[in-house]
Amino acid sequence: MKILTVVGARPQFIKASMLSKALKSLPEVEEVIVHTGQHYDANMSAIFFKQLNIPEPDYNLGVGSASHGAQTARMLTELETIMLSENPDIVLVYGDTNSTLAAALGASKLHIPVAHVEAGLRSFNKQMPEEINRIITDHLSNWLFCPSLEAVTNLKQEGIKKGVYQTGDIMYDSILHFRPYALQESSIIKHLNLSDKKYILATVHRAENTDDPKRFHSILKALQQLEMKVVLPLHPRTKSKINQFSYTDMIIDSSIQVIEPLNYFDMLTILSQANAVLTDSGGIQKEAYMLRVPCITLREESEWTDTVHSGWNHIAGSDTKQILDTVNAIKVPKEHPPLFGDGKTSQKIAEILIAHFKKSNTI
Ligand code: UD1
Repeated sequence: MKILTVVGARPQFIKASMLSKALKSLPEVEEVIVHTGQHYDANMSAIFFKQLNIPEPDYNLGVGSASHGAQTARMLTELETIMLSENPDIVLVYGDTNSTLAAALGASKLHIPVAHVEAGLRSFNKQMPEEINRIITDHLSNWLFCPSLEAVTNLKQEGIKKGVYQTGDIMYDSILHFRPYALQESSIIKHLNLSDKKYILATVHRAENTDDPKRFHSILKALQQLEMKVVLPLHPRTKSKINQFSYTDMIIDSSIQVIEPLNYFDMLTILSQANAVLTDSGGIQKEAYMLRVPCITLREESEWTDTVHSGWNHIAGSDTKQILDTVNAIKVPKEHPPLFGDGKTSQKIAEILIAHFKKSNTI
């Protein structure tokens, strides 16, 4: 069975690492990895392949940055050529980026079945490019691997019932597998001179925050006014927006420590020892929960509502006062229900795909 895996952005490298390992252990499977090149900086891409031991991509499309339409179109053109020449049995996609959409669309037009890992998530906010990507990808997919019951329910409400599996969250597999290595190898705490639970980690990169000068200003103001030291790894988009809006003064001469984007091991380490995390990332909301770190979400809604209901995640939006009040009111909940499965998601997905292959070859 030939599986063509398409990845392109940082969180997808993390998600793909464990499933690629599981697929590699199956003699019946040949995996061809395509990197769209959506993320291309060494610390946004190459470092993840190296650290997570992901096989070198068989293809790198090098599409780079562009407007959504142009970026997706470039991927689609290149992916179609590769899909035609590789003729895979399945195209495997992750999450909700433009790379996910391009691969799902390209495959379904060629009648190649699509498997979507992290299916069924909804923010119910179509202003987010990710919401559009995930809705379309889900509707084009033959296998929909859902991290939670809520994701299964979302799909049901859109009439998608066939091919839906609640497998747990693949990022939980990665955390369980890589955390011991991270704690052993990362020296980020020492390097930044941080003390356990005495700092707040912040990440901001979503277009709806960084590209709106008012929202972005309001968030940076909150970070500036927090009593505890703030560590802020800067996504390239965020860095360029700080320059564009002349907000540099807000992050220098303040208690905000600005650093380069972090590799996976450093991120797991710095997150697990933080007092709290302020973020607009989807992945970090989950990782915070898995590592039992309170999270304040800098958006108006979350796809991970179970983390909110459990009391570990708080929606604060972008308003300075709201963010500060939320941070000041944080209480660490006593309960920590298992929301993300048992850490065997990649194995389950591999088994489902291989069972399908065996069945279709015996009929
Ligand atoms: C993308 C995903 C988002 C995911 C995020 C993880 C979409 C629509 N969004 O957002 O869901 O959470 O990846 O990081 O696919 N840039 C660089 N170097 C890089 C990559 C990006 O400088 O290696 C800069 C460029 O200026 C680019 C901007 O960052 O224009 C945004 O990059 P892009 O890949 O378009 O979206 P992300 O914000 O990273």
